[in-house]
Amino acid sequence: MVVTTGSDGITPREGWSSRSAFILAAVGSAVGLGNMWRFPAEAGENGGGAFVLFYILCVLLIGLPVLLSEVLIGRHGQSNAPESVRRVAAESGKSGRWAILADFGVLGAFLVLSFYCVVGGWVLYYIGIFAGDLVTTGLSGGAFQGRPPEEIENLLPALFDNGALMVVLHIVFLAITLFFVARGISSGIEWVATWLMPTFFLLFLAITIYGATTGGFGEAMAYLFTFDFSRLTGPVMLAAVGQAFFSLSLGVAGMMTYGAYVGRDVNLASTSGIIAGADTAVALIAGLCIFPIVFAAGLEASAGPGLMFQSLPIAFRDMPFGSLIGLLFFVMVFFAALTSSVSLLEAPTAWFKDRAGLPRAVATTIVAGSALVLGALAAWFWGTPVAGIAELGLFEGQDLFNVLDTLTSKVLMPVGAILTSLFVGWVASRRLIDSENGLSGGLHHFWLFLVRWFCPLMLAIILLGGIFPEATEAVFAIFGG
Ligand code: PHE
Repeated sequence: MVVTTGSDGITPREGWSSRSAFILAAVGSAVGLGNMWRFPAEAGENGGGAFVLFYILCVLLIGLPVLLSEVLIGRHGQSNAPESVRRVAAESGKSGRWAILADFGVLGAFLVLSFYCVVGGWVLYYIGIFAGDLVTTGLSGGAFQGRPPEEIENLLPALFDNGALMVVLHIVFLAITLFFVARGISSGIEWVATWLMPTFFLLFLAITIYGATTGGFGEAMAYLFTFDFSRLTGPVMLAAVGQAFFSLSLGVAGMMTYGAYVGRDVNLASTSGIIAGADTAVALIAGLCIFPIVFAAGLEASAGPGLMFQSLPIAFRDMPFGSLIGLLFFVMVFFAALTSSVSLLEAPTAWFKDRAGLPRAVATTIVAGSALVLGALAAWFWGTPVAGIAELGLFEGQDLFNVLDTLTSKVLMPVGAILTSLFVGWVASRRLIDSENGLSGGLHHFWLFLVRWFCPLMLAIILLGGIFPEATEAVFAIFGG
C-alpha cells in the first residue's frame, strides 16, 4: 500500500492493511444493531411488505450511490471527513464551506453513538441472562426451564425500569468500544473487524439454518414480501429511507472516515456493492429469522424495539439447547454491534484528534466521555417525553433516546446524503470523480444521473412527505383531482 502522511505531514497516515481488511471493517460498520434489532422493528411497525420492498429500492437507488460517493470523498481527501470534503472542494476550485456537510455528519455519528451504546448495553444484559441460565439449566432442554412466556417478555421492561443498571451497561459497552478505537486503525479497529466479523457470519449462518428448520418461514416470507401499495405512506417511506441510511452507516461521516484509510488500488464501486449487498442480505435474513418466531409465539409484529429482545428469548425457551443458542445469538449480536460502534466513535475521533492536535488516545477518551453523558441521560430518562420537543410532529411523545434516533435517521442522515450527492454530482470536478469511482461506460453515467438528480430530488420529496404528511397528501389530492 502507498504510505501517505498524516495531517502533520510527517507521521505516516494510518490505513487498512488490505482491501479485504477494508471490506471487513466497512461491512462490520454496516452490519450491526441496525440489521438485527432496528430493521425487524421498523418493518413490523411500518406494516411489513410495503416497507421492505421500498427499503430494498432505497438501498439500490439511493444508498449504494451515496455510499460510493462517501468512500470516494474519503479516499481522495485522505483525512478526517470535513477535511476530506474541504480538500476535494479545493482541488475542484470550489468553496471549502461544503465541509459543513461532513461537520453535520460528525455530529450525527456522535449522536448515534450515544444511544447505540445504550442498546449495546441491553445486549450485554441478555448475554448475562443466557450465560446464567446455561449454568442453572444446563445444556439439554430449552432455556429458562420452561418459565411462562410473559415472564420472559418482562425481562426487557424490567431492565427499562432499572435506569441505573441501563446506565452501567451503557458505560461498559462504550468502554469496550473506546478500548479498541484508542488502539488505532490496524491494531484496534481492523483487529476487531478481522476477528469478529467472520465469527459473526459463522454464528449467523448456523442460527439461520437452525431457525429455518423450526418452521414458520412461509408466513414470515408472506409478511415481509407482500407489497401492499396502499400502506406506502409518507412516514413509511421516510422510515424506510432512514433505515437504509442507518443500516449502511451513511450520512454521518462514518464511511467517509473509513474511506480515508483505503489504498489507491482498491476499486471503490465493486467494493461498495459488496458492502451494501452483505448488509442488506443480513437484514433480510434477520427478518426471516425473527418473524417466524414472532408469529409462532402469537406476538405482535408491531412490537417495535422489543421484538428482538422479547420474541427470540421466548423461542429459545422451546428449543433444544435453548440456553446455549440464546447465549451464542446475543454474543453474535454483540460482535456485530461492536464493529459498528467502533466506526461511530472513529468518525468524531478522527476529526477531533486532527482539529485539536491531540494524541488518538486522548481524543478518543474525550469523545467517548461526552457520548457517555448523553447516552446515560437517554438511558436514565427512558420513557420520559422530552419537554418542548415531544410536541413536534416527527418527535411526537418521544423520550430522549427516541428523539436522538429520529433526529439522526430521519433528519441528519437524509440531509447529509442530499448534500453529499449534490457535492459529488455538481461541485467536485469530473476529472477527480472519474479517477476515483471505479466505474465506466453506462454504469458510470447511471451513477452520475443518480447522484446528480435522482438522489437529491427523491430524498427531498421523501423528507418533506415524512415530516409533513398532511400537507403532502393535500398536494397529492390536488394533482390527483
Ligand atoms: N450501520 C450500523 C448498524 O446497522 C449503525 C451505524 C450507523 C454505524 C451510522 C455507523 C454509522 O448497526
